[in-house]
Amino acid sequence: MSYRLLHTTSPFVIKTRFRFRLVGWLVKNPAFIRVWCCKNCYRTAARIEMAKADSLVILDKDSLEKKKTAICNTGSKKLQVIADFDATLTRYWINGQRGQTSHGLLQQENPEYDDKRQKLYEYYHPLEICPTISIEEKTKLMEEWWEKSHALLIEGGLTYSAIKMSVSNALIAFREGVVELFEYLEERDVPVLIFSAGLADIIEEVLKQKLHRSFKNVKIISNRMTFDTDGRLVSFKGKTIHVLNKNEHALDMAAPIHDQSGVSNGLTDDNASVKTRTNVILLGDHIGDLGMSDGLKYENRIAVGFLNDNIDKSLASYQKAFDVVYLNDAPMWGVLDLVSDLCSSRGD
Ligand code: TMP
Ligand code: MG
Repeated sequence: MSYRLLHTTSPFVIKTRFRFRLVGWLVKNPAFIRVWCCKNCYRTAARIEMAKADSLVILDKDSLEKKKTAICNTGSKKLQVIADFDATLTRYWINGQRGQTSHGLLQQENPEYDDKRQKLYEYYHPLEICPTISIEEKTKLMEEWWEKSHALLIEGGLTYSAIKMSVSNALIAFREGVVELFEYLEERDVPVLIFSAGLADIIEEVLKQKLHRSFKNVKIISNRMTFDTDGRLVSFKGKTIHVLNKNEHALDMAAPIHDQSGVSNGLTDDNASVKTRTNVILLGDHIGDLGMSDGLKYENRIAVGFLNDNIDKSLASYQKAFDVVYLNDAPMWGVLDLVSDLCSSRGD
């Protein structure tokens, strides 16, 4: 080895010497570490609190507290969570682009049909989120949209393998904290019903591919497909669920997440137990999502709304309809806090 190489002080050697000296100094001055840690933890906690306050709206805090107390008194044995899927469990924006819905992510083998469904989306989605159209008129428009969209999926011969491929290519992501929320509820045997006007078969595939695990407490109530022996879509089971008819009849369609047969629309024993859980946390991004608990004779319900779009025009109605409203595509941490408050109670 040359003399030059042995005696040159390389940047690596300089950095390593500096690191040793710094560690030595810190060991002699532990107070510095304590102050630095406190300041930074405080700053991080303060930032989280500010972000939460910025995106959280509660119109009637007293009413919320009363509901929380009533639920706390019975504990987790009477609790269940009913959650919408698109834009509630999933994010509305992903890296500056609109996240896709379970309908929107589908790519059929014949792209002509994707274009047709995209045109329907461009026409009907602004109507879906328009705050000035009456519920009656909007219900008719939504029926029309779902009917046309489902017909195009059948006509275009959607296959199960196209579903798998579409999900793997999709721009779809869960809100931060969704997995932790599901895990927390699973550990306490609290059921979660995902109640969606989207497509059950796609939601199952999204859970499988994006979360890489299943939850024994999670069930899906949504539009379910029937495939022929070649794996081609031939029909949809039961009554169509769209954003404004999430009602009792739809609740009766509850089927366990892995039940691919799904022939029966009736309540199984397991599903019936859902009816005895009379404390409900409802999560939705649409006023129509409030109908998800209509089939239950609940005693207490805390409704959490995610307002993703048209905030200026829709906030007034959202804060009246929901006990808690989250803005700005907020993560699920606030809901996890709420649920953990409710579960750490006398009833447990
Ligand atoms: P959700 O009940 O899980 O929120 O699912 C319904 C969403 O699906 C709703 O916001 C509109 C959207 N949708 C599409 O993106 N494309 C479609 O073709 C249809 C019928 C609905
Ligand atoms: Mg939704």
